[in-house]
Amino acid sequence: MIYPGFHLFNHSGFSRYLEIVGKVQTPVYVYDSSVIIHQHKNLEKLIQSLRKNIQIRYAIKANSNQAILKLICEQGSGVEVVSGGELLKAIKAGISPKEIIFSGIGKTDEEITLAIQNEIEQLSVESLEELHVVKKIASTLQKPISIALRLNPNIEGKTHKKITTGTDKNKFGIPLGQLMEAISIAHSSSYLNFLGISVHIGSQIQDINAYRQVFGQLKTLVSSLSFEGYPVKRLDLGGGFYVPYTLSGSPQFDLQSYGQAFSEELGNLNCGFVIEPGRYFVAESGLLLTKILYIKRTPSRIFVIVDAGMNDMMRTALYDIEHPIVLCSDKKNDTEQMIVDVVGPVCESSDFFASQISLPKNLKAGDILAITHTGAYGSSLSSTYNSRPLIPEVMIDKGVIYLVRECITPEHLLTFETFKKLT
Ligand code: LLP
Repeated sequence: MIYPGFHLFNHSGFSRYLEIVGKVQTPVYVYDSSVIIHQHKNLEKLIQSLRKNIQIRYAIKANSNQAILKLICEQGSGVEVVSGGELLKAIKAGISPKEIIFSGIGKTDEEITLAIQNEIEQLSVESLEELHVVKKIASTLQKPISIALRLNPNIEGKTHKKITTGTDKNKFGIPLGQLMEAISIAHSSSYLNFLGISVHIGSQIQDINAYRQVFGQLKTLVSSLSFEGYPVKRLDLGGGFYVPYTLSGSPQFDLQSYGQAFSEELGNLNCGFVIEPGRYFVAESGLLLTKILYIKRTPSRIFVIVDAGMNDMMRTALYDIEHPIVLCSDKKNDTEQMIVDVVGPVCESSDFFASQISLPKNLKAGDILAITHTGAYGSSLSSTYNSRPLIPEVMIDKGVIYLVRECITPEHLLTFETFKKLT
């Protein structure tokens, strides 16, 4: 099994990418719709084999481009959003509010109001404090809202510390000790429709045992809640499925063992289920194409300076995670290699994509590099730091190349700067 995005390299060499670079400026994100469809099918197969009512709600924070939202919605899934902006984007993409879950620990009154007025499928409430606010807003509007209570299970997902969310040191979810109080508040208003419990213990989770522990905790909880007279209609199991950031495509997330843990722990429950994958659908579908500006040789290092920066793809600066980097060239590469650092133009030392990697010795300014596996948390995490543009995005769909986001230039952004008197 190789990395699903890699088939494009093999089929047509790099000519497709060089064609895109010829039409659109660099840096540019490129997505391959067939990889997203392939990943979606993998999850559909898993769900079919489990013979349970499991809904997919794609976590759009991974990539909220309209073309991607429409594609995933066409595959039959809904979405999970975490802001008013994401809710707006989902609705604009044609996703029914009845298939939209809204999570997040810091929802504003305006966002809660928007969710209630749009009659969304589920609001995942993350604290007692938020629950009081939701209750108040729903009764003022005299409109019902379906809620799930997000549990903080205090279970370690064994992932990068910046993307773990399920322990008592993390800001997410309601601690087990406060859950009964939350459930009784949830039942104290006719405007609150209690659906059940949601969890999400983090991202890039490889350890199936962590999921198993969560499922076990939920199983116990569901039976004690039904004993107390609070039936659980739905369990939302969150996302977090691991993606290998390797060109070999391994090790894969062990979907089969995930399914087995699900069946063994939760298979006897009669409620509905939700999963919220984000990265799993899109990470391997995306590449960031960037042009080499300079090859800077110093006595101690060779720096390959590219035109993409940490503002375009934050993951390396933020988590110290290096994505594979490949030279896009139709020419036969010099087999001789050199050891280089691949860095961006931004004025920060954290602006790098790889340190001490091997690339062909004949590399030169003007060549195009592909930073792979950047479909998830690439564009969606980007910024305009150093007054740089928000770069364009392209999708290859059934062999056709589409521009799916124009470049947002510093000139556009400048039109919002003002000097208005407010008093
Ligand atoms: N559900 C909830 C409530 C979440 O907070 C997240 C991600 C997901 C689902 C989807 O998780 P996924 O399946 O994508 O792992 N920027 C980081 C990842 C942050 C994830 C935040 N929450 C990165 O680039 O690794």
